[in-house]
Amino acid sequence: MRSLEFKGRDIVSIEDFSREEINYILNISKSMEQLASQGSNMLKGKILATLFFEPSTRTRLSFEAAMLKLGGAAIGFAEAEVTSVRKGENLADTIRAVENYADVIALRHPLDGAAKLAAEFSKVPILNAGSGSEEHPTQALMDLYTIQKEKGRIDGLKIALVGDLRYGRTVHSLAYALSLYNIELYLISPESLKMRKEVIHSVEKKISVFEGTNLEDVIPQVDVLYVTRIQKERFPDAAEYAKVKGTYKVDLKLLKNAKTDMIILHPLPRVDEISAEVDSAPQARYFQQVRNGLVVRMALLALVLGAVK
Ligand code: CP
Repeated sequence: MRSLEFKGRDIVSIEDFSREEINYILNISKSMEQLASQGSNMLKGKILATLFFEPSTRTRLSFEAAMLKLGGAAIGFAEAEVTSVRKGENLADTIRAVENYADVIALRHPLDGAAKLAAEFSKVPILNAGSGSEEHPTQALMDLYTIQKEKGRIDGLKIALVGDLRYGRTVHSLAYALSLYNIELYLISPESLKMRKEVIHSVEKKISVFEGTNLEDVIPQVDVLYVTRIQKERFPDAAEYAKVKGTYKVDLKLLKNAKTDMIILHPLPRVDEISAEVDSAPQARYFQQVRNGLVVRMALLALVLGAVK
């Protein structure tokens, strides 16, 4: 595989990346497995700033852990209320301040378009760690890495995305990324939470897409079941959330009709859409998926900072 240039690049949308580039990132991620155990000084002297304007457990901590594993340092905030945003500072000014202290910035923000805006102002690479209900590209990369690692391939698979396909940002990035592979995509959601039209229009030009509401109908066919939480915090109306709350429940009864080698993924956090009894089922891979986030984010930091080619 030829070497590709990532130094200085922003990771704002997964749509900015070709299949060749994504495969390259997945290969570099694999090479990070050993460094995740042993540690490295590859990014010694480099600083990551994590600017999180929304709650996070996995994304922020895995970015920070990834930087520390590679010998760099991490600064940042997990709560905008303790920053000068509280005094009225806007995002562009925040970015133009932080770029003086850090070599790379991971940004999570409640508004669609925030990562794009930050990238327009920033002199250092912006890694979109989740922008509104729009995209979560680094999550999509770790999802692809997990599918590749667990199934040995991405091409040829039948993959179902289930749950909140309207407000869930991970499924938007993942659908765009999967459309670069030769897969069949099943989109299962309540009617009111169907996949955004612009995502469907882009994806169905490249791969076959089936939309439905009934999980039981597709479960016997799929190789990968990607379950998502209904994003309560993004509903403009509590009554609308109440109508769809608890629509899907993956439990052992449902899995009786699944392929034995199907895998279950979830970006996490979960609420009630996967029963705890499934955690010890042979298909459960969502905690391995969390671990894979570390190596993928190590790869991304090393690539955008030019430490690996
Ligand atoms: N998957 C994900 O983005 O998790 P966090 O919200 O905990 O970062």
